[in-house]
Amino acid sequence: MHGLDGDPAILERARAKTARSGLEIVYTEGMSYDLPYPDGRFDRVLSSLFFHHLTLEDKLRSFREIHRVTRNGGALYVADWGAPQNGLMRLAFFGIQLLDGFETTRPNVQGKLPELMQQAGFERVRVIRNIPTLFGTMAIYAAHKG
Ligand SMILES: C[S@@+](CC[C@H](N)C(=O)[O-])C[C@H]1O[C@@H](n2cnc3c(N)ncnc32)[C@H](O)[C@@H]1O
Repeated sequence: MHGLDGDPAILERARAKTARSGLEIVYTEGMSYDLPYPDGRFDRVLSSLFFHHLTLEDKLRSFREIHRVTRNGGALYVADWGAPQNGLMRLAFFGIQLLDGFETTRPNVQGKLPELMQQAGFERVRVIRNIPTLFGTMAIYAAHKG
């Protein structure tokens, strides 16, 4: 297992948690739109609560990079804010938008992540679950390469 983040302080925290868990995870500092891995390196890629921090352009660049480092037959799983299931969920999401900014969170709430994954080359993109939370709808997406 490999983990990546752009912030060295976050990686230190992750390393400490991993040491306590007994898991073996290699952490690398890097940016999602310029991944420091060779083509087809991974069977599965998992991203949680991350894409709503990126502009539309960087979301697409990052999905393209993830597609590049995923092997043929591999899969991507994303957990992030998605299209609200109802008015209450839409209202709840304004809190996250005030906190994290409207520009980067708007494509999430417009339900654009699947479209961007497809543009990056992923196939059979689907929403596995929509989970209602206090801060809006948390969507779990699955997408495949090849
Ligand atoms: C809300 S945290 C998500 C943390 C974790 N994935 C989780 O689910 O608890 C967002 C993280 O994204 C990192 N980050 C933001 N933009 C990035 C980018 N373009 N490439 C890599 N990491 C980035 C930040 O340093 C931060 O640690």
